[in-house]
Amino acid sequence: MTARGLLLLAMAVPFATHGAETGEELAERVCRDCHGERGRSDTPDIPSIGGFSEFAIIDLIESYRLGFREARTVTLEDGTENDMGKVLESLSEEEVEMVAVYYAAQDWQPHAQPSDADLARRGAQVHSRKCAKCHLKGGSVAESDLAILSGQWRDYLATEMGNFDNGTRRNDTLSDADKEALLELYVSAGDY
Ligand code: HEC
Ligand code: HEC
Repeated sequence: MTARGLLLLAMAVPFATHGAETGEELAERVCRDCHGERGRSDTPDIPSIGGFSEFAIIDLIESYRLGFREARTVTLEDGTENDMGKVLESLSEEEVEMVAVYYAAQDWQPHAQPSDADLARRGAQVHSRKCAKCHLKGGSVAESDLAILSGQWRDYLATEMGNFDNGTRRNDTLSDADKEALLELYVSAGDY
């Protein structure tokens, strides 16, 4: 074999083991319709995910795969319906890892949304007492290895926090007033 032939062979190996698509291409093809460009969602009831840690994304995806979390059906612009569960069925472990690495490399871009400053201040107190040991820095950083809360869409957060009641997500003994204040804190993205 010529030197050039060997070089081409060496270059072909990564493509052979990972399939033809990069994490970015996979994410753009499979996740972007719902989660937006680089994981910044344009749709208030779909969470942004760009900037979450790799661990958080894989862990959250596992919770759908294991059935701990039920995926909502989304109607796309072209009228077709889809949900996370179906999407994930088509992906291998390796592909999940590739999209997780891609989204973890993006910057978290908080959504600028109106919020109530007084309630947000109250929310910050509740957060530091009850939530801060896991959701670090007001839930604003990837290092917590959890979903980022600060600057997430209000509609989506309100739904998730509502789910605390019906047992589909972690339950904490929060009053409605506490929940309302926490929601304003996260929606304010720390700007209150
Ligand atoms: C059909 C729309 C749709 C597609 C496609 C989709 N998702 Fe989602 N995803 C959602 C919705 C809606 C939620 C939140 C509500 C729920 O649980 O259904 C969600 C939640 C998530 C979460 C949890 C976010 C959080 O804050 O807890 C992660 C992580 C995620 N998706 C990753 C992905 C990845 C990676 C892909 C591509 C492989 C993808 N999703 C494809 C609609 C979609
Ligand atoms: C012992 C650690 C811990 C504490 C304390 C904690 N959480 Fe969480 N929280 C988690 C884990 C684990 C998840 C599920 C994984 C994830 O969503 O990243 C989660 C998920 C969430 C979610 C869903 C986010 C999403 O988009 O998926 C919200 C909202 C949330 N927590 C709010 C709170 C609030 C508010 C408090 C305080 C009252 C709190 N958490 C206290 C560990 C904790």
